[in-house]
Amino acid sequence: MYKKLIVANWKSNKNPEEAVQWLEELKQKTENLALKTENFEVVICPPFIDIPTLNNRLKVMSFKFQVKVGAQDVSPFDNGSYTGAVSAKQMQGLIDYCIVGHSERRKNFGETTAMVASKISQLVSQKIKPIICAENQENIPDNLKSFSTDSAVIMFEPSSAISINGVFRAEDPAEVQKVITDWKATVGNYQMLYGGSVNPENTKQLLEVRAEGFVIGKASLSVDSFTGILANV
Ligand code: PGA
Repeated sequence: MYKKLIVANWKSNKNPEEAVQWLEELKQKTENLALKTENFEVVICPPFIDIPTLNNRLKVMSFKFQVKVGAQDVSPFDNGSYTGAVSAKQMQGLIDYCIVGHSERRKNFGETTAMVASKISQLVSQKIKPIICAENQENIPDNLKSFSTDSAVIMFEPSSAISINGVFRAEDPAEVQKVITDWKATVGNYQMLYGGSVNPENTKQLLEVRAEGFVIGKASLSVDSFTGILANV
């Protein structure tokens, strides 16, 4: 049984100062809250610019549960002449997880499944776990088969379920269960997350249908809704 992975995907939100405020508020609001802390691990995926600041802050803070840092993207290349790109090697030691192939990157930045495959190889070589976002099985690159089930995480992410302007429209839990069961059988026993409009109201129901964690966009931006989710895990 996997510990539930509760991933905050801040997308293009929060500067370093706001990131620290969020972290301090999270500590304060969870300190006296009854949480099943052995059941889950939190991963914060902020924009690149916040990663060093969050890491420095986490070194001097203690939480009742595990808090790790991840990135929202990585270069498909090694270090070198790739203007604007941040490589897995550069982030080694700074992050434990990295989102790849998010539908917003596929749609807005032309990320292809072949690029996702390269990103997975770069990350795994640095012992960083990719969180591979996929709307269907074709979005999951074939090279994943060459990596053990504990070296990567998969996220079922129907793009139609992503919140728009703060309005939640999650996937039917029965469909989430069907997809997770199917992918476990055909792709492998990777940890399977669900993403798309997860919020405090639907957390319990989505966990019942075998989601082994979540990637949370909108509801991760406010500490109140994020702790509302943690309280239900
Ligand atoms: P959402 O985003 O929680 O705002 O729907 C999820 C995601 O895109 O990862």
